[in-house]
Amino acid sequence: MSRTIWVLGNWKQNLLREPSASLAKAIADGLPDALGGSSGVRVGIAPTYLALDSVAPHTGDGRAAPRLLAQDVGAQEAGAFTGEVGPAMLREARVQAAIVGHSERRAHFGDHDQLVAAKLQAALAGGLDVVLCVGERLEQRDAGEHEAVVISQLSAALSGLAPELDPGRVTVAYEPVWAIGTGRTASPAQASEMHAAIRRWLDTAGLQGADRSLLYGGSVKPDNAAELLAAGEIDGFLVGGASLDARSFLDIVTSASNHARSSQAR
Ligand code: PGA
Repeated sequence: MSRTIWVLGNWKQNLLREPSASLAKAIADGLPDALGGSSGVRVGIAPTYLALDSVAPHTGDGRAAPRLLAQDVGAQEAGAFTGEVGPAMLREARVQAAIVGHSERRAHFGDHDQLVAAKLQAALAGGLDVVLCVGERLEQRDAGEHEAVVISQLSAALSGLAPELDPGRVTVAYEPVWAIGTGRTASPAQASEMHAAIRRWLDTAGLQGADRSLLYGGSVKPDNAAELLAAGEIDGFLVGGASLDARSFLDIVTSASNHARSSQAR
């Protein structure tokens, strides 16, 4: 069974409206070529909220169009929550999926496990797909706690899902904090090992680990993408720095398409 490979760009707090629109257009224009006819790869981009409307015309549902993602989402449907942007607002802006639990949100903005769970549930209830980020800090890996930390983040976010919410719409991205924006990538073996542990946990929780695309994030670049995919457990990437340049992002998509084609041929 081949799982969909996702290549998602997280632009973080970078790019004003015009440069966001130009980057989105360059990605959309280059995508058919980068996909090279591969049907197993999908792409998404997550600009800042205020650039969603300038980026939206370059996104869509089609096989060769980037999906439009938000970098976060409010935990409530609507109401007196100053500064928040709720799921319905994102849907209106043509957003298809929201990232929740990114380590920068966890580290700098107090997004603890319960809040991440609330955001995930609000997003699903509001009709958005979700990219759930999990990952350990360096000292936790050094202490041998990495697997326990990641499983506890997963469990906090996914164990208590209301029965009417579809967990099939959640994609997990493993992003070791020590690899984000540092130029230090997890080795394919380290990433694969964690992905296998995540899949085992998803199976135990009745969430069909084997069928689910699991992403890796942390200093993914055109020159390490193929090697990470070749390790077997990784079904795509959440890309930060390298997604701010159309060429390098599209080169990662090309690696993913080559990988998808060669896996289908096997
Ligand atoms: P990076 O960011 O690719 O710049 O390491 C990844 C992420 O934060 O999702």
